[in-house]
Amino acid sequence: MDFNLTEEQLMIQQAARDFANAELLPGVIERDEKEQFPHEQIKKMGELGFLGMMVDPKYGGGGMDTISYVLAMEEISKVDASASVVMSVNNSLVCWGLEKYGNEEQKQKYLTVLATGEKLGAFCLSEPEAGSDATSQRTTAFDKGDYYLLNGTKNWITNGGNADIYLVIAQTYPEKGHHGINAFIVEKGMPGFDIGPKEHKMGIRGSDTHSLMFNDVKVPKENRIGEDGFGFKFAMKTLAGGRIGIASQALGIASGAYERALQYSKERKAFGKLISQHQAIAFKLADMKTNIDAARHLIMKAAWDKDMHQDYNLSGAMAKYFAAEMAMKVTTEAVQVHGGYGYVKEYHVERMMRDAKITQIYEGTSEIQQIVISRTILAD
Ligand code: CAA
Repeated sequence: MDFNLTEEQLMIQQAARDFANAELLPGVIERDEKEQFPHEQIKKMGELGFLGMMVDPKYGGGGMDTISYVLAMEEISKVDASASVVMSVNNSLVCWGLEKYGNEEQKQKYLTVLATGEKLGAFCLSEPEAGSDATSQRTTAFDKGDYYLLNGTKNWITNGGNADIYLVIAQTYPEKGHHGINAFIVEKGMPGFDIGPKEHKMGIRGSDTHSLMFNDVKVPKENRIGEDGFGFKFAMKTLAGGRIGIASQALGIASGAYERALQYSKERKAFGKLISQHQAIAFKLADMKTNIDAARHLIMKAAWDKDMHQDYNLSGAMAKYFAAEMAMKVTTEAVQVHGGYGYVKEYHVERMMRDAKITQIYEGTSEIQQIVISRTILAD
């Protein structure tokens, strides 16, 4: 086992760290408060190659491994989880899904512009009555010869307003259950496709989340991804990798909060000494650091499994489950270490605590990860 990072991985990690501190840190509190999408910063992330990191260079991507991707995700998330969710969805769900399962024409037309960040992608699975229970898709896409007629509503869609290209999961043959589901590429501006109002969220407030309405949208036949009826498998396989990205987001949020708590503990005095000299605080820091490193190991294992073309369904779910739970605990403790200062915006940790919460919810709640993990171990 080699725990050392390669020169290239270290360079990518450093580049992401430098970018986050130079470009994302300024204004992060204000963007959170005003629910402002980081347009400029996302554009720069595209130029630097952070939006299509693992895509083959022949489609405009960086051709990097999953380990490099999770390292970059952690660094970006340490500073701005709103920017990192945009990055995660574009890389893991949209680009990966298209590269793995799209045909050559779809890749030339869509992947090339998504990988460079010229266009942004969204992944549309959740519905008002199909969140965790993803097989219960109500959105329909009936075969009308030359096109599919798409009708329905999607909910809580990350990049919902700012995306240009949407991967939409819909039911084509209701009588076949999840075997009748398909995945489609839908473009912004197609007649009948409307974007609902922005959601006002507890955390990741700089990212945009919308419901989407499809009313008799004619989706060209050639925009279906994969074989007829492959849509649910497409969604599950794509999400399995996406969970490694969100685990890294959780790790980054937790590391960012921990670093701030550690620094604060070495500056703040109480009862005549630095608070780091009090065991009550030192033990919290010890627990935070231990849990962060445990999550990092699970994430690296899942990323390595993916890079080695080994099954990563279990390792990705375990990484996401542990990292999300850990991030919630660590950020809560980071607020506690800061005392009253932690509860106000200038010290960043209250935002991180709010941001951490979503990692227990999206791309499968913690309970969904427990289902995936328990089913796998019980099937052995
Ligand atoms: N890879 C391939 N196929 C898979 C799979 C995987 N990882 N997981 C499930 N499947 C297949 C199963 O093999 C089965 O197919 P067959 O019938 O052909 O064998 C089919 O999918 C249905 O599986 P289950 O019978 O296990 O279905 P279920 O309803 O019991 O549960 C679930 C499946 C794992 C709970 C699934 O519904 C799930 O993951 N739910 C959570 C959905 C989710 O993560 N939503 C997040 C939305 S996206 C998002 O958040 C993005 C964002 O904006 C940030």
